[in-house]
Amino acid sequence: MNNSSINLSKRLEAVKNTVLPCDVSLDIGCDHGYVSIALVKEKVAKKVICLDINEGPLQAAQRNVFEWGVSDRIELRLSDGFEKVKAEDKADSVIIAGMGGRLTASILEGGKDIVGSLSQLVLEPQSEIEVVRAKIRELGFHIEREQFLTERGKFYFIIDARPGKEKETADEEFYDKYSKYLIKTKDTGYKEYVLKNIEKFEGYQRSIKDAGNGDLMGKIGELKKVIDLYDK
Ligand SMILES: C[S@@+](CC[C@H](N)C(=O)[O-])C[C@H]1O[C@@H](n2cnc3c(N)ncnc32)[C@H](O)[C@@H]1O
Repeated sequence: MNNSSINLSKRLEAVKNTVLPCDVSLDIGCDHGYVSIALVKEKVAKKVICLDINEGPLQAAQRNVFEWGVSDRIELRLSDGFEKVKAEDKADSVIIAGMGGRLTASILEGGKDIVGSLSQLVLEPQSEIEVVRAKIRELGFHIEREQFLTERGKFYFIIDARPGKEKETADEEFYDKYSKYLIKTKDTGYKEYVLKNIEKFEGYQRSIKDAGNGDLMGKIGELKKVIDLYDK
């Protein structure tokens, strides 16, 4: 195993490829540890500190780290979020992938002293992405890049956040929900996803008795605004 390269899913490959070359990266909620193993094997990070709140995943990560021969470059810690990260660790970046948006945001909030010293946040929240985008702004970061991808019928958003707040506009909440970056860069995959959602919600609207359902109409209106913004 030592000389071969680790086979990551499309989602995890994209997460790994987002991490900038650095000395120390943190992988919070590391589970299997595969992203961290690939990062040190490919020399993107000199060292990764893998953290997980549960013993089971951490033990699995430890076995994988050993099998892949990277024990000298990966440290494992049982930790709730940033709890066991110290300033002396001199971390450059953090990866928080595969968790709900609310949990991701609360981990960032709980570790905001360390977060404030990082030069990159690599985030892949699996729900309520708007909560994470708002937290990024609140912590004085901005979204440098964002990737939308689909894998086996599921869709993912991979966020590369860097220090420095962008000038806020009146539409921030709308953009937290629908991604300023993907709209401004006219991401084609995301446009297709939005168009499919409009079709899906219009189908719901046709099939329900209360065709004037306010929530549904509001949602369709917002999605159509996203498409209008693409065409501007
Ligand atoms: C679904 S897995 C995602 C694993 C991996 N990051 C990925 O993207 O494939 C979520 C992991 O986060 C861990 N976790 C959940 N809450 C956590 C917290 N507050 N602090 C650290 N780890 C946490 C879980 O134990 C689990 O191993």
